[in-house]
Amino acid sequence: MNANFLNLQAPSKILISGTINIKFFSQIFFIFSIAFSPFEIQSQGIESKFSLLVHKTPTCGCCKKWIEHLESNGFSPSSKDHQSLQGVKEKYNIKPEYRSCHTAVSEDGYIFEGHIPGKYIAQFLAEKNLDAIGLSVPGMPLGSPGMEIGDRFTPYDVLILYKDGTSKVYAEIKQK
Ligand code: CU
Ligand code: CU
Repeated sequence: MNANFLNLQAPSKILISGTINIKFFSQIFFIFSIAFSPFEIQSQGIESKFSLLVHKTPTCGCCKKWIEHLESNGFSPSSKDHQSLQGVKEKYNIKPEYRSCHTAVSEDGYIFEGHIPGKYIAQFLAEKNLDAIGLSVPGMPLGSPGMEIGDRFTPYDVLILYKDGTSKVYAEIKQK
């Protein structure tokens, strides 16, 4: 019986006994776990790329909600509270017109200012934006991730910020 459990030409025999079934599936699982181990290593690399440090103020609720949005979109964010974010914005050269309530910094030093949808951060990090410092959603648009109030929504832009202080529209968000 044992000799039959990997004989794929006799599937009816596999299904005869529950014990054989379990053995069969554990064997398959074992093969899969070997087959996918290189991918595991690769996904660890992706994860560390997606770890962001979010600088925020302790009392701001929308920052926490944005962090939850990141968590449910494949990021592993951590956060640091500051009484004032003035120093953080200055350190990362975020001009006043690009500022919002929180500043996230990736491991390679890119900044993500405000309520940016996670998918644009992932897109940005997958690209080579050598003359950019990061992305920003200035202010706090209603209906952006972490700024949900019922169904309310204001269209907004995700900006790409360049090292020379200029910016361009990176994405136009017209609906939730
Ligand atoms: Cu906010
Ligand atoms: Cu915030």
